[in-house]
Amino acid sequence: WPRTSGRVDGAVTIAGVDVRDLAREYGTPLYVVDEDDFRSRCRDYKAAFDGGDVYYAGKAFLCREVARWVDQEGLGLDVCTSGELAVALSVGFPPARIALHGNNKSYAELEQAMTAGVGRIVVDSFDEIARVGFLAEKLGVRAQVQIRVTTGVEAHTHEFIATAHDDQKFGLSLNSGAAAEAVRRVLALPGLDLVGLHSHIGSQIFDTAGFEVAARRLAVLLTQIKDEHGVVLPELDLGGGYGIAYVDGDDAPDIKVVADSLREIIRRVCEDAGLPVPRLTVEPGRAIAGPGGVTVYEVGTIKDVEGIRSYVSVDGGMSDNLRTALYGAEYTCVLASRSSDARPVLSRVVGKHCESGDIVVRDTWLPDDLAAGDLLAVPATGAYCRSLAHNYNYLPKPAVVAVRDGVSRVIVRRETEDDLLRGQA
Ligand code: LLP
Repeated sequence: WPRTSGRVDGAVTIAGVDVRDLAREYGTPLYVVDEDDFRSRCRDYKAAFDGGDVYYAGKAFLCREVARWVDQEGLGLDVCTSGELAVALSVGFPPARIALHGNNKSYAELEQAMTAGVGRIVVDSFDEIARVGFLAEKLGVRAQVQIRVTTGVEAHTHEFIATAHDDQKFGLSLNSGAAAEAVRRVLALPGLDLVGLHSHIGSQIFDTAGFEVAARRLAVLLTQIKDEHGVVLPELDLGGGYGIAYVDGDDAPDIKVVADSLREIIRRVCEDAGLPVPRLTVEPGRAIAGPGGVTVYEVGTIKDVEGIRSYVSVDGGMSDNLRTALYGAEYTCVLASRSSDARPVLSRVVGKHCESGDIVVRDTWLPDDLAAGDLLAVPATGAYCRSLAHNYNYLPKPAVVAVRDGVSRVIVRRETEDDLLRGQA
């Protein structure tokens, strides 16, 4: 739950705003973002990684207003398409604090980023190194480059969001020697400045041992680079992936403790190798945007499957939260518009799409007197919900409303059916 959430008269409030008022004013489903929660997590990361850089990973949730918050809090921004870059540039986000990611950046995307003057390009493949080299020459600019290294770490998370083993699409493998070859190629190109190594082992990670293993392996490569090329790289980026609590009992890592231990490991490994300690940078997305977001739905129909469970259908579903269907993600939810002392019933909260896998909350307990018109709130939906939203069955995407100090305002308006028809022959 957002840091400011509570209950007044039985109804959930976020930053002092009653969800019943939000539903009345903006309709449902509705994404609600607690602005202070988002900003305070930016500050926590900045404080924890003091002396390094924190890039907010925009893929978790990006819109123009969020880009402004990130800028105002002094963080950098990780973008991975020209679309995300366009959002950032449209609000004057300083390009020097933007890092461009992606395993298949097009010439056009790279050209747009390099022309804008983005601060970092994280190269992901041999093809891309050649593309950046070509464009640097063509545009007459220099590109500050990090190499994305896959360290062979098996992150303990869902297969689709583990990214450091060799048999997946991202990065240049440490084990196969591709990373070392990438270093040679980048150093050989005149328009490229190699500033560091990058690793992102995966997402929603609780066991921080994986980051430590990655850091150790990267430090070994830093040493090899120094020995082979006489080059000392100033930066080490350990990516994002810090897990958050979705359901009771999830125990999210304390970021201060993680930061201290990573710094200590890097210091030790580098000192042992006679290397100066590189600047440590990170790219949290979920851990900044996730906890401060709540999705509010209205209950439409309820079907009781005798002796098994109750199916509670809400007015959104897999189009506004794909994570349950895609990753088997776990969520919880509460009756948000009132309190109830009725007997709890095992319930599954489902959407209105034409799929039986259209599940928002797989297992939860909701009161027996739940009825159409009640509001349900699903916490921890600030990351990878609006950004993964889609229009299956022509459902318009919900609005995003920011709340702060008892005041709410739309930061992304609800899509309309006109929006969905626009552009069709
Ligand atoms: N840096 C890089 C290079 C990344 O690929 C990602 C996430 C991040 C940083 C931020 O990771 P975070 O701190 O948010 O875990 N849609 C999935 C998550 C996909 C993550 C993709 N990359 C989900 O909903 O769980």
